[in-house]
Amino acid sequence: MTASKKLFIKTYGCQMNVYDSERMAEALGGQGYVETNSADDADMILLNTCHIREKAAEKIYSELGRFKGLKAAKQDLKIGVAGCVAQAEGAEIIRRQPMVDLVVGPQSYHRLPEMEAKIRTGEKALDTDFPEEDKFEKLKNRPKTARGPTAFLTVQEGCDKFCAFCVVPYTRGVEVSRPVDRVLAEAQNLVERGVREITLLGQNVNAYHGAGPDSDWTLAQLIWGLEKVDGLERIRFTTSHPNDMSDDLIAAHGDCAKLMPYLHLPVQSGSDKILKRMNRSHTAESYLKVIERIRAARPDILLSGDFIVGFPEETEEDFQATLDLIEEVRYGTAYSFKYSTRPGTPAAERAQIDPDVASERLQRLQALLTQQQHQIQDEMIGRDVSVLIERTGRLPGQMVGKSEYLHSVHIQDAEAQIGDIKQVRIISSSTNSLAGQIIS
Ligand code: 5AD
Ligand code: SF4
Repeated sequence: MTASKKLFIKTYGCQMNVYDSERMAEALGGQGYVETNSADDADMILLNTCHIREKAAEKIYSELGRFKGLKAAKQDLKIGVAGCVAQAEGAEIIRRQPMVDLVVGPQSYHRLPEMEAKIRTGEKALDTDFPEEDKFEKLKNRPKTARGPTAFLTVQEGCDKFCAFCVVPYTRGVEVSRPVDRVLAEAQNLVERGVREITLLGQNVNAYHGAGPDSDWTLAQLIWGLEKVDGLERIRFTTSHPNDMSDDLIAAHGDCAKLMPYLHLPVQSGSDKILKRMNRSHTAESYLKVIERIRAARPDILLSGDFIVGFPEETEEDFQATLDLIEEVRYGTAYSFKYSTRPGTPAAERAQIDPDVASERLQRLQALLTQQQHQIQDEMIGRDVSVLIERTGRLPGQMVGKSEYLHSVHIQDAEAQIGDIKQVRIISSSTNSLAGQIIS
């Protein structure tokens, strides 16, 4: 038997990249690779990159620079760049870092086995196409090995919304949904391997419209289809756009027992002027109306959002409108960012606001969001939640899981097993997690 080759994948960015890295590891598994968690003993290093943050490409170039010594010491070492920086930079990566052997965009991962064979011969391999075929279907290599109780499942990729600040429509391409039968089959496979909670992924997941048995299914229909999968206990989805919160999806939050009461619904700004400049095609009021309808369907839902401060032309008044919207919504958790330019996006051409002003606003916004997060966590004390146990904690006998609201919950119980769903009474709240006691 030939010794297996070792693959080290470093994943940056969003959950979709985490999912993609798993698929790439499976695809290269067919080529004799097993994963390692150390770059030092790898035969192939793959960086699965993200382009959403500032200077993402520059950071990847400097990361690659750090592998120079490794490559010099081990001539057979292959280095690849995948993900959105690979898509955006393409051949430029090999030009600037000639030690890179392989550049693969997010839509071409199913071609990795051929690309790997090519680089073994000493050639370079580059693929940043947007092919027609379903890469995940081609990548289908469904091992029956056991895995943890939670999993991501990509159902939709790309985005047609073209928000003025965002690179996603350029790096991930236009919106494409995977067919229903493939999603259901993948979910079934995950459940057979021990998964009890699935998070459906998509850059614009609630725009899902995958081919179903007779016609296209909406995300809500897909969720109802998944509800029938025995052994699957919890369903989540992310990330959504306010304009695609359809009536059936809102209703599912009230009616579908397996759909968890948590929704990530980015608004970006509370100022209609800024929302318009961002090309968001919704207003603060239309967003608040959607929130009102969701809360009518599921009063205890925990809301999460994304915010950008310091977008070009944002005045103090515009920023105040964002704070007002946050006050009105009350978010359980949120992600907030200072605007920064992404080359090639419309907003990159516009006059930027003073960076000190933007930093000061970000601080005020985060103070408010943190205060809301802690208030909502404190309100959980004394309440009973169900916790899916995901891992052991740092203390002896401690287990850690997630409540239906996606709060991390620490419990002290040597009996609880990973994968159990336990009824837990919350007894305290700390910075980013809760603690509780099992009641059943
Ligand atoms: N500047 C700052 N934040 C951004 N985001 C996307 N592009 C930018 C940018 N150019 C944020 C948005 C989005 C999240 C994933 O990242 O809030 O929802
Ligand atoms: Fe980017 Fe989301 Fe806007 Fe699409 S909807 S362009 S992914 S911010």
